[in-house]
Amino acid sequence: MLDMLVRNVNLPDGRKGVDIAVKGGKIVEVSTGIPGQAVQEIDGQGHLASPPFVDSHFHMDSALSLGQPRLNQSGTLLEGIELWGELKPDLSVDAIKQRALEMCRWAIARGTLCIRSHVDGYLRYPKSIENMQRALDKGVDVIGGIPHFERTMSDGARSIKMLCELAADRGLLVDMHCDETDDPMSRHVETLAHETNRVGLHGRVTGSHLTSMHSMDNYYVSKLMPLMREADLQVVANPLLNITLQGRHDSYPKRRGMTRVKELMEANINVAFGHDCVMDPWYSLGSHDMLEVAHMGLHVGQMTSIEQLNQSFNAVTSNGAKALQLEGYGLEPGCNADIVILQASNPIEALRLRPERLFVIRRGKVIAKTQPVVNQLFVEGQSDSVNFSRDLF
Ligand code: FE2
Repeated sequence: MLDMLVRNVNLPDGRKGVDIAVKGGKIVEVSTGIPGQAVQEIDGQGHLASPPFVDSHFHMDSALSLGQPRLNQSGTLLEGIELWGELKPDLSVDAIKQRALEMCRWAIARGTLCIRSHVDGYLRYPKSIENMQRALDKGVDVIGGIPHFERTMSDGARSIKMLCELAADRGLLVDMHCDETDDPMSRHVETLAHETNRVGLHGRVTGSHLTSMHSMDNYYVSKLMPLMREADLQVVANPLLNITLQGRHDSYPKRRGMTRVKELMEANINVAFGHDCVMDPWYSLGSHDMLEVAHMGLHVGQMTSIEQLNQSFNAVTSNGAKALQLEGYGLEPGCNADIVILQASNPIEALRLRPERLFVIRRGKVIAKTQPVVNQLFVEGQSDSVNFSRDLF
């Protein structure tokens, strides 16, 4: 007997009306008309079943701290950092934990089952080197950094070198806030790619944000991208925050600031999207919905072809899983039975409607459930429901 049978769902790769069979927390079969019975059967009704959303870049420690101790008046990245510095001495471990756990509940309800969380900078703070060692000894498995926030360009480069060597020594992954600025001369990504190559961390290093690439000279980028490709550098853009924080020193025309997502993808570089923040010193909005992130990303990046729309969906699912090197991710036999069923028929419709997450399934168990939304109209004495679905793709 199977543990779970999900009947009649569409998959992100275009397969329609398939069943997914689950046993022992794993997917054991994906095909049409799977015979047999299961302890739990879910009627997918032709909705989209997706692997869970992956948030490749988030700040769990600051989430839901909005307004403490005050609001960000200028709306800039630097005032946000300043504000976070003011709040830090008053934070308690319990308060951070409580907010983070509440954040996780929001994320799960929206179908996100994996989040990579970042913490703060390196050389700029006197105790960071020591704190980094302690954190790694306690089991933190990805090494961070923020080279553009170090005091000088050369300190930034030095931090990249030290952190990549540390990752290579300990066999860990790297993910740095890198070049989150409008300054086209902020070129730490070049050093990051070079160090990745030098210490042999190919495919294991992520450059987060990379917003300066938006402002860089095209000739320089034509040289930079092959270097990034050579290092198999993973890229994470954070559209909600990038469009809000970048270009703040511009009058008009005002730069959008998000890194060159479309061009990086065309160069065969893996790009994922992150939420970055929810209700904290840098961003007042959000409910941790990765479809909102993808929706903003495709608008800012003008990714409107069918292929690019699908890639935007991948940026919050499979591309994130690749960047984070998640094992057992996907909807194939042998993968973990982690499945989200959405009230939409395909990924493009999911981006358009940002619909309800009807079932969130983890290791073959339903851990969140939402009733499908029915919008009812009452016009000229008639009651009728509105159907926003247009299954074109
Ligand atoms: Fe960030």
